[in-house]
Amino acid sequence: IGQDSIELLGHSYPRDDFTNITPKILAKVGFHLQNQPYHPLWLIKERIKAHFYSSYVGRWGNPLFSVHDNLSPVVTVEQNFDSLLIPPDHPCRKRGDNYYLNRTTMLRAHTSAHQRELVRSGLDAFLLAGDVYRRDEINASHYPVFHQMEGVRLFSDLELFSRVRGGDELSLFERGGRRTAQKQESHSLEAVKLVEFDLKTTLTRLVTHLFGPDVEVRWVDCYFPFTHPSFEMEVRFQGDWMEVLGCGVMEQELLLSAGAGNKLGWAFGLGLERLAMILYSIPDIRLFWSRDERFLKQFRVDDIQTPICFQPFSKYPPFHNDISFWLPDAADRFTENDFYDLVRSVGGDLVEKVTLVDDFTHPRTGRRSHCYRIVYRHMERTLTQQEVRQVHQQIERSVEAELGVQGRF
Ligand code: PHE
Repeated sequence: IGQDSIELLGHSYPRDDFTNITPKILAKVGFHLQNQPYHPLWLIKERIKAHFYSSYVGRWGNPLFSVHDNLSPVVTVEQNFDSLLIPPDHPCRKRGDNYYLNRTTMLRAHTSAHQRELVRSGLDAFLLAGDVYRRDEINASHYPVFHQMEGVRLFSDLELFSRVRGGDELSLFERGGRRTAQKQESHSLEAVKLVEFDLKTTLTRLVTHLFGPDVEVRWVDCYFPFTHPSFEMEVRFQGDWMEVLGCGVMEQELLLSAGAGNKLGWAFGLGLERLAMILYSIPDIRLFWSRDERFLKQFRVDDIQTPICFQPFSKYPPFHNDISFWLPDAADRFTENDFYDLVRSVGGDLVEKVTLVDDFTHPRTGRRSHCYRIVYRHMERTLTQQEVRQVHQQIERSVEAELGVQGRF
């Protein structure tokens, strides 16, 4: 605070009017949970690696997919958005949703930020695991840092068509084609259908490996600026359909800009916490950051394929505390995510959950007020009344000082 640059992972980034990263978030960078042996995120990553290594081998018995799990989460805005054809005015670039170091640099919001550079480096098939950062609400399944696994596979016409009879008559591209719901303008329908088929079988095999042969899968059409067609995969778990990943046929313009314009490709990105929470019955996303042995020891298994069902240890008692304030008159000066971030930077992991419990507009003055309920609970010990009061009062002070609201405390 008060300094005009941010130090992170040995580099210095000048602050500007876009900077919105908080010290609490900075402190989360560099843990590489996906690389800590026997951490549940590591376990899932290793299971996915093992599956791809054994199922997809090259002509000389070598693994087809290379694995990258050490790329820095600090990326340029260009990598995170522009390289993926995300337009300059796209809402996903909002300051309210991302952590910016400054106008040109940010914490990656998804592992797709590295697609172009890895394709450009000559790779045809790779997996990439890492931490990603998004400003978000606070509850048992949302945390501003989580982990993703990206997968990309490219096909030359030989690789794609040598699998089908009569394939040597087919070509990847067609001139003067139109973009339809099924394909991009430059692609031939035959090529796209083969790539889409390969993508869906690859991912179905992966979740079958993870969840067992009885898993039910369904595909939902969706939209990403960097794939077309695009799909979400949902997995049926305890009666509910859960979204586990986004994927699709890579935009040809992206491949062209990465020097692989003569190939077609698919890409997917899946959330590792989401998978781990389902597979190991982990009830709260904050547990992934726990150093409590009662959590970590449950994942130390000799064989990574051992089924694990996390046994929750007794929870310590929660404290509930409400906070109400009048919003600034200029309504656009306040967003809920500003408040969630502030609570997170003051309260850290003591905060289990924040919910908007009342949104009230005064009938006469037209002033608007919000009331939030904050649940305080430590994962590893019982908090004291006094400790909670101190944090809560600090939040009351900061919210007035930093967000321009007027307390009704
Ligand atoms: N990056 C997307 C997300 O985070 C997921 C995705 C990856 C979609 C690759 C398509 C292809 O939601």
